[in-house]
Amino acid sequence: MKIETKRLILRKLEDTDVERMFLMDSDPEVMKYLETPVTAVEESRNGLRMIQKQYEENGVGRLAVVEKESGLMIGWCGLKLLKTPINGHVETLDLGYRFIPEFWGKGYAWEAAVASLEYGFKELNAETIYAYADCGNKGSHHILTKLGFENTGKFEDDGVMCFWYTLKREKYNTGNDKD
Ligand SMILES: CC(C)(COP(=O)(O)OP(=O)(O)OC[C@H]1O[C@@H](n2cnc3c(N)ncnc32)[C@H](O)[C@@H]1OP(=O)(O)O)[C@@H](O)C(=O)NCCC(=O)NCCS
Repeated sequence: MKIETKRLILRKLEDTDVERMFLMDSDPEVMKYLETPVTAVEESRNGLRMIQKQYEENGVGRLAVVEKESGLMIGWCGLKLLKTPINGHVETLDLGYRFIPEFWGKGYAWEAAVASLEYGFKELNAETIYAYADCGNKGSHHILTKLGFENTGKFEDDGVMCFWYTLKREKYNTGNDKD
């Protein structure tokens, strides 16, 4: 599968993306509100394989984001089926994104997130898409709120206080302001 936007291509993660994944996931700035940064390429390879397995088992998973201009893999974005119950929800379709810092501040998270939501609501016919983020993650909060997600509460995830976000299909505005 391939999703194309004005400046980006979203496609399945490939084995050759492992070095870029490592570059991203070993960076403490990237992982500030996430897990502990990885320290070995092998950890990134395992993470990548886990996502590839999700494509097969769930038909959905985070996608590599490639910048058209440079041809570089700059991060990942997309929908993941959360199979383990979280905040009282099961089989949740969750939006997520993560980028290499060199590519922050260019509107790429926004562009990739919009494309992922379009795919989720239009191709997968999702009724609701969820997201969650560390309460301190202002960047993510800003993007999710601007996308139309409603902050529907707080919960604790592995000892970290997170906001829970909900976006229903009928509330999703497919207007021009998403470009
Ligand atoms: C959060 C992250 C994905 C943002 O990526 P980005 O490509 O820089 O975001 P964009 O350029 O698309 O920004 C979209 C909007 O969010 C705002 N924004 C981005 N980062 C921000 C921050 N740290 N604080 C406040 N606002 C921020 C931008 O100003 C922009 O606002 P505008 O559209 O109103 O002008 C990126 O910083 C990242 O990869 N962080 C590490 C991983 C992570 O935390 N992922 C989210 C887990 S829930």
